Amino acid sequence: MATATVAILSPGEMGAGIARLLRAYNFRIITSNSGRSSYTTDRAAACHIEFVSSDVDLINQADIILSVVPPSESLPTARRVGYAYTYVARGNKPPLYFIDLNATSPGLAERIEEVFARPGIGGTGVRFVDGAILGGPPEFVQTPENPGGAWRKPRIVVSGPERLVGEAGQRLEEALGLKWVGDRVGQASGLKMCFASLTKGLNGLAIQSFTTAANLSLLPELKEEISAYFPPLLDFLEKSVPATPPKAYRCVREMEEIADTHSQTGFSRAVFSGIAEVYRGVAQDDELGKERFDRRSRGTTVEDFAECIREGLSRKEEENNRANAAAAGKEWMQQPPGRAVERMLVD
Ligand SMILES: NC(=O)c1ccc[n+]([C@@H]2O[C@H](COP(=O)([O-])OP(=O)(O)OC[C@H]3O[C@@H](n4cnc5c(N)ncnc54)[C@H](OP(=O)(O)O)[C@@H]3O)[C@@H](O)[C@H]2O)c1
Repeated sequence: MATATVAILSPGEMGAGIARLLRAYNFRIITSNSGRSSYTTDRAAACHIEFVSSDVDLINQADIILSVVPPSESLPTARRVGYAYTYVARGNKPPLYFIDLNATSPGLAERIEEVFARPGIGGTGVRFVDGAILGGPPEFVQTPENPGGAWRKPRIVVSGPERLVGEAGQRLEEALGLKWVGDRVGQASGLKMCFASLTKGLNGLAIQSFTTAANLSLLPELKEEISAYFPPLLDFLEKSVPATPPKAYRCVREMEEIADTHSQTGFSRAVFSGIAEVYRGVAQDDELGKERFDRRSRGTTVEDFAECIREGLSRKEEENNRANAAAAGKEWMQQPPGRAVERMLVD
């Protein structure tokens, strides 16, 4: 018998991992696949997640909703649930919890909280919890030391005035290993922003550094120097840089959220806005932009990753040069004949 129902919007790489973990803890998992790609729908089916026909159905059946979407979709997802909630009569059921687990700035977390504070939209019936995930998706790992296996879980931090009460909430806390970091909405998100500044932020810097070193034919030498001074840093970057392509698209907004977070302290947005552009370049790269978690072919080593970016940048430069030359030629052709001859003599 399932102990409680958790809705996951949506089972992407992280949401699917959480679904598998919660099923192992005897939760029933539901989702709504309306508007979702076949990629997400197939993955949800593979994780034995049940589909419901509408958001109203989802709210009717769920004890807890987890929002696990790209950061750009956090607020729209909360609004969508808040809107559907107005069509639901939950009767005597325990209160519904909505936990946002996305990489958002504290400011955006507060805006999401407001969605559920407005009577008539989320009403006062939905209890909002700010949350964030540090680390990769939950995974069941078997090792020679532990052949029976154990769950490797990310660290999940939560904050806000609404504690998870009731059986479903207590069991969720235990299954996910939730860690409360404060009584204010925005604190869990803020912790994630500061943490990701040093992980994904550093990863963005490494992408530039490795690519420029490759362009100078110095990538092996750069790796040797990092290894001589900070061996664990090279280990980290050799794993994190090749893991970037499938998630680069959502890292763009994550860097912008980080820029927002630091700007609230008084820092310029420039550093992390710049790193957002590095991730945009990866997401839009002809080769790396096609990579998916379950289908990797390019950029699986820092060498190949740097090569893809370097080739992409040089193709872009050639295209720009051609476009500029074409524009200059057009301008030249459009000049009155006398002026064109004058310019030709001067040039
Ligand atoms: N993966 C990780 O290692 C990791 C680690 C820490 C934190 N997180 C956080 O977890 C969240 C999700 O990351 P992820 O890795 O699972 O991303 P992902 O693999 O790209 O999956 C994103 C999921 O969200 C769905 N989605 C997109 N737009 C949506 C919308 N408007 N409404 C509802 N669902 C929508 C996608 O569906 P479609 O297929 O239809 O686009 C997909 O199922 C992010 O906020 C991220 O910061 C992830």
